[in-house]
Amino acid sequence: MNSLDTKDPVLTMTDVEVSFGGIVALSGVSLEVRPGEVLGVIGPNGAGKTTLFNVACGLVRPQSGTLGRLGQPLTRLRPHDLPRLGMSRTLQGLGLFDRMTVLDNVMVGADRTAHTGILAGLLGLPSSASDDAAVRSTAMATLERLRIDGYAHRLPPSLPYAVRKRVALARALVSEPTLLLLDEPASGLSSDEMSELGDEIRSLAVSPTGSEPAGPATSVMLVEHHMDLVMSVCDRIYVLDFGKVIAQGTPDEIREDPAVLAAYLGNEVAHED
Ligand SMILES: Nc1ncnc2c1ncn2[C@@H]1O[C@H](COP(=O)(O)OP(=O)(O)O)[C@@H](O)[C@H]1O
Ligand SMILES: [Mg+2]
Repeated sequence: MNSLDTKDPVLTMTDVEVSFGGIVALSGVSLEVRPGEVLGVIGPNGAGKTTLFNVACGLVRPQSGTLGRLGQPLTRLRPHDLPRLGMSRTLQGLGLFDRMTVLDNVMVGADRTAHTGILAGLLGLPSSASDDAAVRSTAMATLERLRIDGYAHRLPPSLPYAVRKRVALARALVSEPTLLLLDEPASGLSSDEMSELGDEIRSLAVSPTGSEPAGPATSVMLVEHHMDLVMSVCDRIYVLDFGKVIAQGTPDEIREDPAVLAAYLGNEVAHED
């Protein structure tokens, strides 16, 4: 069921520069997300993580540098292009509709044009009853996958925060993206909830031993300041500090990298450049 039939990186950034007024948020940032991996981006507050996330989902356009997806250039990326490109993201905050059920919230995330055809979408034709049923059953399956199907007919405000976070994740997954972008998904979770989230994220991607996930394989770019979560979940990690990539490698390599320790501990160890 692995829908990734290419070895091309699912996302590349090459020499990306972003500044806001005089503030350099990203400088010479290059990275790639490989098929089926969980890629982590960590760094202290203000390092540029959210800016990098926003570049990846088309909310911020770099002043220079390029993006690519599956070997193709991604020019003028906009957030509404993401579903067509097989990409999905969780919104900052939860962004759930309080007066819609959990199931309906998740159905909103389904890319209807993929089911009704692009022409019907352009003409604004209503989706047929059978399309609706198909979207509903996909949404239900996604809730089951995240073990929150018992809440399908509840309204979000009546649910614990951790469940609502899962609903937001389900909405991002229902379109079966091949690349999922997560910005600080662990914020506000307890350490138990964080470790469950880690298991969920891990189960989306191909495991290090090569076994396939239950559903279609999803590569994940996880932008997160919780070191523990990133270390336990990611195949590879990039570390940002002051808008630059100061280290990259496996969790074990990152854990021992002096530049990373210095950035996180605020030590006065000089960076190589
Ligand atoms: N919209 C913006 N306008 C001005 N400065 C910004 C904006 N977004 C981010 N910055 C600045 O860019 C730098 C990187 O911020 P950010 O990407 O939010 O870092 P992180 O997510 O790692 O905390 C910071 O110095 C921040 O103040
Ligand atoms: Mg941030």
